[in-house]
Formats: sequence, structure tokens, C-alpha cells
Amino acid sequence: MKSFVDPRVGIAVPPRITNAQAAEIVSRLRAAAGISIGADKHAFIELRVGRRLRDLGIPDFAAYMQRLSGPEGAAELASLVDCLATNTTSFFRETAHYDWLENAGAPELAAAGSGRERDFVIWSAACSLGAELWSAGMVLERLSAGPLGRLRSALHGTDVSTSVLERAKAAIFSEEELTGLPEPLRKRHLLRSKAPVGGRMLYRIEPELRRRAVFAYANLMKPETAPRIEADVAFLRNVLIYFEPEGQRRAIEGVAARLRPGGYLLLGHAEALPCPIQGLTQRGPAIYRKDG
Ligand SMILES: C[S@@+](CC[C@H](N)C(=O)[O-])C[C@H]1O[C@@H](n2cnc3c(N)ncnc32)[C@H](O)[C@@H]1O
Repeated sequence: MKSFVDPRVGIAVPPRITNAQAAEIVSRLRAAAGISIGADKHAFIELRVGRRLRDLGIPDFAAYMQRLSGPEGAAELASLVDCLATNTTSFFRETAHYDWLENAGAPELAAAGSGRERDFVIWSAACSLGAELWSAGMVLERLSAGPLGRLRSALHGTDVSTSVLERAKAAIFSEEELTGLPEPLRKRHLLRSKAPVGGRMLYRIEPELRRRAVFAYANLMKPETAPRIEADVAFLRNVLIYFEPEGQRRAIEGVAARLRPGGYLLLGHAEALPCPIQGLTQRGPAIYRKDG
């Protein structure tokens, strides 16, 4: 980060954000991605966006606000979303959903033809690095080796953050990022780097599973950007908490519109439906079935 030396103390001071600049950033973020953060979160915004200033070689927030308003503004807004979105994820996070998929959801949907007459379509609608999507894909693979028989699957991961999508497409994870992934699944679905990279071993999802997966940009605030699919199971987890009630409703309705009748919507366990949504019936904790 470019910084100036405060003559009073003689040390480098990172750029500071004013109330008005923080409020403008918060407002632009909400308009672009529905993400709602308090304008009072100065330290958070300074830290996250300050890194961006450093990368761009921009000396202060005033110059950054000009960039946001200038000809590069649209592209910069995407980078701002990258900076401020929270991307925490992990394999088999909220594991009850995967148990449900394996023992109830997938058998029911397979009996109705999914994975047999047509692809069994999984959609991770705020996929971050892809751990959620790969976890579901691994469950379907495991089922394919059992009494249900071979299930053809198609895996879709979407997110508003272009930087996480790049990483999701690469499908490469560090040891820490694999926390939660059981050993037999690691053995079955991961390839290990031949040598340490940057001092640590890296792991990549094996090609067979990768071939089934497509990662793409989609903004839950703009349902028309969603992939044109009929999903059997859609994960919409740990993202609604960042939206205001109207944004939550828009996101849920947009995802539900891309579910096949009889398909399932999975929300984060801490994210109740903000209000009853027509056409969705609760079938378990954070599990909703589309009527039909
Ligand atoms: C905390 S992560 C959750 C990842 C995963 N669903 C899970 O539960 O582990 C939230 C993700 O939502 C994405 N996100 C935030 N706003 C979004 C929007 N408007 N449209 C699509 N994705 C969004 C963020 O970029 C981030 O990757």
C-alpha cells in the first residue's frame, strides 16, 4: 500500500477512509451485489479495500472514489465486490445436508429419473471456492457405486466474485482448505502435487469430477444472470445473512425458479426463510422442496 510518512511520528500511515467515502462504498456494494455492511465498519473497509489501493498504487481513498466513478468504474466495482465479500467455506460444511442428500434426497430424485433419464443437476448458488459443490458431487459419486447404480451428474457453481470463481475453476486446495473432507474421499477424488508449491503441498480435484463441473458468474440480485438449468438440488447457504430481507427474497425466488418441480433448496442452517415463499414447502431443517 502506498503510504505517507506522518511528520509528527515519522512512521508510515496507511490511507484512512472518511465517513462519506465509507458510506459511498457501502452503498455501491449493496447496489452491485446486495451485500449489506455497516458504514461504521471503517476498519474492515479500510483493511480490505486498502489492499486494493496498494495493488493499484493508488495513494488514498479520494483517488479510489474517482476511479470508481470513472471509465474503469464498472470493472473496479467487480474488484470492490471481490474485496468485501466474505468467502468462508469448507468441504462438507453443515454436514447434515450431505447426509440428507445421500440417504433421502438423491434416492428420491433418482427414483423420479434424475441421474438416469437426465443429468442429476446440483447447483451451488454462492459457491465461493467450490468446496460445497465438490462435496455434493462426491456424495453422488459414492451413491453411484451403491445400490442406486450409476448416476449421471452435472455440477454448477456460481458466484458474484470473479476472484473466487477463478480459484473454483482451478479446483486446487491447500491442506487447510481440505479440513472436513474424509480420508476415503481424499484418496478417491484428489491428486497431490508432486512437490511442495510455495512450501506446501497442494491438492487438485481429479479430472473425472472436474469434467462434470461448470463455474460461472451469476449475481443473486440479478436472477437473469443465473445459468439456464433445472436443478435437482440447489445450495444457497451462508450468503443470505449478508442481504437485507428484500434481497433475501429475491435470491431465494431466483434460485427456486431454476429448480425442477420436486427439486430441493438447501439454505444455511442459520438462515431461515425471511417469509413463506410460495411453491416451497419445508421438508427438514433448512431443506425446502419445490412443489410439483
Ligand atoms: C460465506 S460464502 C458461502 C460459500 C458456500 N455457500 C458455503 O456455505 O460454504 C458466501 C459467498 O457468497 C458470494 N456472494 C455474495 N453476494 C452474492 C451475490 N449477490 N450473488 C452471488 N454470490 C454472492 C460471495 O462471493 C461468497 O463467495
